Amino acid sequence: MKYVNHRYSWLSLFFLSIFLMACQEDKVVITKSDYTDAEYEVLSRTLNLPQERADYSVTLPLHMARMGAKAPVVSSAKATLGAVLFYDTKLSANNTVSCASCHKQSLAFSDDVALSKGFNGELTKRNSLALGSAPNFEVSYNGSSVSAQTAAFFWDERAHSIQEQSILTLQDDIEMGMDLNELKSRLESIPYYNILFTKAYGSGAVSTDRVTDALQQFINGFISGTSRFDEGLNRSTGDPFSNFAEFTAQENLGKMLFNTNCSSCHGADFTSVVETVANNGLEMEYVDQGIGARTHLDFDNGKFKVPFLRNIALTGPYMHDGRFATLEEVIDHYSEGVQAHENLDVRLRKDFQHDGGPLKMNFSEDEKAALVAFLHTLTDYEFIQDERFADPFK
Ligand code: HEC
Ligand code: HEC
Repeated sequence: MKYVNHRYSWLSLFFLSIFLMACQEDKVVITKSDYTDAEYEVLSRTLNLPQERADYSVTLPLHMARMGAKAPVVSSAKATLGAVLFYDTKLSANNTVSCASCHKQSLAFSDDVALSKGFNGELTKRNSLALGSAPNFEVSYNGSSVSAQTAAFFWDERAHSIQEQSILTLQDDIEMGMDLNELKSRLESIPYYNILFTKAYGSGAVSTDRVTDALQQFINGFISGTSRFDEGLNRSTGDPFSNFAEFTAQENLGKMLFNTNCSSCHGADFTSVVETVANNGLEMEYVDQGIGARTHLDFDNGKFKVPFLRNIALTGPYMHDGRFATLEEVIDHYSEGVQAHENLDVRLRKDFQHDGGPLKMNFSEDEKAALVAFLHTLTDYEFIQDERFADPFK
């Protein structure tokens, strides 16, 4: 009797688990589509979105997570909307340019010209900045705010969030020339936006805040952390100063030279910059005073944002005005071209003295080639091919 009972309970357990598995499968089937058939039909007239929304949640590379860096929290519904907005030329006054016109995925979201063309063909005043930059996007260490220090945007750091940056860019006379009221009515009349805004924010109402928040969520997902450098740092003890087993001797030499001469500003782990703004001696007299043009303080003249160097091999031309076409020219500048500007950073002066002349690093040809080889290890090929960040328009 006991035996039968036992068998009975095993059997019922067996059926119960089959039932539960079926339920679970059912659940999976239901969540497979984030849109009703009617919604998906409307979206599919214009867009190539997957029926199951792409997952935009951010996973940091091991070495960043190990340091206690916190990934930004990204909503996939908002980032999906952000992706469409980022690639939509309807965000410019005359429907000609989108964010992606000057921030191209294949170039780590930078542009390959010194100055980019805005909506009416006029050129931007500065070189487009790459957007695959983890520290710009609200990464903080163990809760302390490295982010507050580094999350300032544009070459003169005039915006303090991507939302603020986007508001300025949308309305900029050269870049997109958009009237924000016009933007609202324009987007509200487009059926695919009605669906996407509703999925992201619960209603089809368009506001500047929603548009820029969605753009920010999309860009916050741009964590470019699968370069050879990241793999090396993940596998090593986490010390960017140690040699990486998978690097060539030349790349390790370049890394050592970089750590000695460059990391005091640009950072050694490429998770954050060490110095946020500096003058790196491009000129004696700057045409564009950078931060000084904004603050009107002599002390700020010729100072610019210290750019993040992830994917740097893809983001030329270089510097705020795109004056250098190649990394070789950049290295030549630091090696023998630094000018004694009055605000030249002390790290680029002889003996690190405030009154010292410009430091001449005088790299040999081999050392220059090693630095360039090292900078190439910062390219993240997965990031630039990631479908989630690609143009969703048909
Ligand atoms: C016409 C070209 C152009 C368009 C269109 C454009 N950008 Fe930019 N973007 C630039 C340039 C040039 C800069 C650097 C400007 C400066 O520093 O003064 C820049 C800077 C940025 C930055 C600052 C990055 C940093 O590290 O500081 C972000 C973020 C950005 N753009 C996002 C966007 C978004 C989002 C859009 C669409 C709403 C957009 N851009 C449209 C050219 C463009
Ligand atoms: C004193 C701080 C400092 C040091 C040290 C320094 N840099 Fe820079 N770097 C800057 C600043 C500031 C800029 C942007 C300047 C501008 O555009 O006017 C820059 C720009 C660059 C750029 C161009 C980035 C872009 O997106 O256009 C590269 C590449 C670069 N640095 C590499 C190096 C290398 C390699 C070294 C060492 C040999 C080095 N830097 C040392 C501050 C520094």
